[in-house]
Amino acid sequence: MPGCVLAIEGLGKSFISGGQNVPVLAGLSLAVNEGESLAVMGRSGSGKSTLLNLLCGLETPDTGRITIVGESFDHHGKSGPDDRWGELRRRSIGVVFQEANLMPALSLLENVRLRAYLADQPAGGERQWLERLGVGAEADRYPDQVSGGQAQRAALAMVFAMAPALILADEPTGSLDRHTADEVADCLFAMQRDNGCALVLATHDAELAGRCDHLLDLTQPG
Ligand SMILES: Nc1ncnc2c1ncn2[C@@H]1O[C@H](COP(=O)(O)OP(=O)(O)OP(=O)(O)O)[C@@H](O)[C@H]1O
Ligand SMILES: [Mg+2]
Repeated sequence: MPGCVLAIEGLGKSFISGGQNVPVLAGLSLAVNEGESLAVMGRSGSGKSTLLNLLCGLETPDTGRITIVGESFDHHGKSGPDDRWGELRRRSIGVVFQEANLMPALSLLENVRLRAYLADQPAGGERQWLERLGVGAEADRYPDQVSGGQAQRAALAMVFAMAPALILADEPTGSLDRHTADEVADCLFAMQRDNGCALVLATHDAELAGRCDHLLDLTQPG
């Protein structure tokens, strides 16, 4: 039986906008197991990024509980950061955004090495991750010396090198042309399958969403 990596129960989040309380997510419950992928779709403003931010502790829910690899967070409404989120982000949750978030002063290889080191992974396999993602030849270049697609592959290599239990990807191919987007997505799904990690992928791209095991459409109420 695959283990449960992520469970959400009754998750709710509102923002105050123009003095009004605007609900974004209400009563959301779901679970994602090891090796499973969940696509999060919905029109712009439906709460996809808000959900991903909640799932890595960058936002605090108003209601509900989030459990990731056995750590439960239900202290909504309390102020102040919970140290356990930092620890989960360091070792267990890999995050990929639309634009690759690389350190500009480090080469692609050094970026991957740093991420693996921070996640307490043994040194040595970093160059192979870049090779598997098709950017081995660019390993010693700096982020401003590679294309957007190459930088995004390096960002994925960083995530896989940390051996996360959960990957949160917010429009990971949104800034790429169709062909490059498909190649990057192929890498993402192949590595996710091989490593057995759980994936939550926010996207507007129905084709990409169709490659996931489950679909959550935030445009649909309930
Ligand atoms: N920090 C914030 N303060 C106030 N409102 C916010 C905040 N963050 C998000 N919102 C609002 O919450 C709603 C959901 O935003 P979110 O970024 O999650 O949407 P999204 O589905 O990711 O959209 P897109 O497809 O454009 O990326 C929007 O109405 C947005 O304006
Ligand atoms: Mg978004």
